[in-house]
Amino acid sequence: MHQSDWKSVLDVAAQAALDHLESLPDRAVYPKASYGEIRAALDRGLTNGGLDAAQVVAELAADLGPLVAAHASGRFYGFVIGGLHPAAWGAELLVSTWDQNAGLYPVAPGVSVAEELAGEWLLDLLGLPADCSVGFVTGGQMANFTCLAAARDQVLRDVGWDVETRGLQGAPHVNVVLKEGVHSTVLRALRFLGLGEQAAVMVPCDAEDRIHPSALADVLATVNGPTILTVEAGNVNTGSFDDFSAVADLADVHRAAGNPTWVHVDGAVMLLAAASPSMASYVTGMDRLDSWSTDGHKLLNVAYDCGVAICRHSAAHRAAMSVQASYLEQGTGARDAMDWNPEFSRRARGVPVYATLRSLGRDGVAALVDRTAGLARRFADALAASGRAEVVNEVVSNQVLVRWPGEGVAEAVMAAVRAEGVAFFSGTTYRGERLMRISVSDWATDEADVDRVVESLLRHAAAATG
Ligand SMILES: Cc1ncc(COP(=O)(O)O)c(C=O)c1O
Repeated sequence: MHQSDWKSVLDVAAQAALDHLESLPDRAVYPKASYGEIRAALDRGLTNGGLDAAQVVAELAADLGPLVAAHASGRFYGFVIGGLHPAAWGAELLVSTWDQNAGLYPVAPGVSVAEELAGEWLLDLLGLPADCSVGFVTGGQMANFTCLAAARDQVLRDVGWDVETRGLQGAPHVNVVLKEGVHSTVLRALRFLGLGEQAAVMVPCDAEDRIHPSALADVLATVNGPTILTVEAGNVNTGSFDDFSAVADLADVHRAAGNPTWVHVDGAVMLLAAASPSMASYVTGMDRLDSWSTDGHKLLNVAYDCGVAICRHSAAHRAAMSVQASYLEQGTGARDAMDWNPEFSRRARGVPVYATLRSLGRDGVAALVDRTAGLARRFADALAASGRAEVVNEVVSNQVLVRWPGEGVAEAVMAAVRAEGVAFFSGTTYRGERLMRISVSDWATDEADVDRVVESLLRHAAAATG
């Protein structure tokens, strides 16, 4: 490929990217094509001789562009899917273009420092101690894994067992204390870490899926020895926050009784609430805990994929993750990302975080948190006022749980708005009941989006119920 060929590829890709982004306010939120149709559109076969890069990118844009779900649309409310902030988008393009292997400072010095700064700014925004360590990983799953790996290693080290060299066979028992209904990625992380999905003690929660402090006290009173506890900032269903002050107090008591204790906060959905003064009451005491995970690709609106693992005990974090090899240049004194996340080679996914935080500023991050919560409230109020739907949770952040009375009505309404292209919702089973879930996680969502979608939901609900 000649140097001059870059431009023809860029022209095609840039135009297609722009077309996509500019279509977001109006395009159908979800593609209508079936699996078979998608296969037929994309299966152009593998040639022996290859093809011109610009041609391939042009065909990719033409074939695949119409088939992508509009995750960055202001009317995508399924799962917990963040949008795409313009600064994050621009930084993503550069990260791909620079093609840095951001595992080690000597290999990729510039982006290593940008990631270091992004981590420092996040700690500042979240009100967490400035000496916490930060790893940029692929998402909440790996952030939970990274923090829980540090937790496992530290609580065992505290009782004289070096799990990093000796492994878990013959190790002292680690008590794992979780909330009932804990996010499945915490269970999966426990599986990866050899602690087992089923070995945990479950603590009952209240109607908003917040841990009951008195039930937690009862459980902690029954477990002795190394203990790991996880709580949540932003429950995936209700958006609720655990009572971090009460949890921190109970952890202190448990520690004082001689039990090494690490409390991890799964903040994939709502750790960012700590950056908003209006949410301060929900996160009081969170800074007293031991580790925190969050997602860049949710509320912060950087592109997929990006998660953040934060530990108060940087030595434990580093000991759990770091790796050495004879051919690497290590120990330069600069931050090597490889010490803080499970990947070896890696994309500089902290750079879009750097750009997004610079673009939003402190006030912009707080406004993003408040605005998405306000729009969730707008959904809840309008649906509740309609008399056709019931709001099941206390709407404290960006998540709303909606009951559509009547057999199969929730599924019918969600399917109809999706087919109409107006919005995308996903469901959940909460306390045995099938509900619709609304997650407002996109900077681009506005009042007009919510009103348009509410109109569509109610029209389809009327059709479904007669
Ligand atoms: C509470 C919670 N934890 C962890 C995760 C996993 O995050 P990711 O999909 O980024 O790995 C999610 C995803 O929605 C979540 O809601």
